[in-house]
Amino acid sequence: MAILEVRNLRKRYGRLAAVDNVSFGVSKGAMLALLGPNGAGKTTIVSMICGLLAPDSGEVLIEGRHLAGDTGPIKRRIGIVPQDLALYEELTARENLELFGALYGLWGRPLATAIDTNLDLVGLRDRGDSRTALSAAA
Ligand SMILES: Nc1ncnc2c1ncn2[C@@H]1O[C@H](COP(=O)(O)OP(=O)(O)OP(=O)(O)O)[C@@H](O)[C@H]1O
Ligand SMILES: [Mg+2]
Repeated sequence: MAILEVRNLRKRYGRLAAVDNVSFGVSKGAMLALLGPNGAGKTTIVSMICGLLAPDSGEVLIEGRHLAGDTGPIKRRIGIVPQDLALYEELTARENLELFGALYGLWGRPLATAIDTNLDLVGLRDRGDSRTALSAAA
């Protein structure tokens, strides 16, 4: 089964057809790269997959379920790493992870374990208590 299915997606901004009948599927464990020049419609497609933007027509299915109406439950099943840095610079790395983990319903011991696991994964366990601001020296 496709973990993600995009069917005949269309989106216009006024007279501009930003996404014009796009379809594709992604099976579990697969990776898909959406390539195209500036303005091709990549961000518009991703925004519709995430439920941030409603398509004019067509549909998005995640794990076989239509993304429509209340998108809250499906949003809790997906994640997105945005193009721009999305960290709160005044918070430490650990505090940022606590915030985003909490948004996904993690708390207490499971949250602390997930944070340690992921700081280890990227080799930043010893920097967990540093602010994420680029200018922060420690
Ligand atoms: N909110 C908007 N209002 C009007 N036009 C928009 C809006 N967002 C995007 N567009 C236009 O829709 C088209 C697709 O934009 P989109 O941002 O999806 O492209 P992209 O492939 O992500 O581009 P980039 O590689 O620059 O990130 C572009 O022509 C863009 O100018
Ligand atoms: Mg873009």
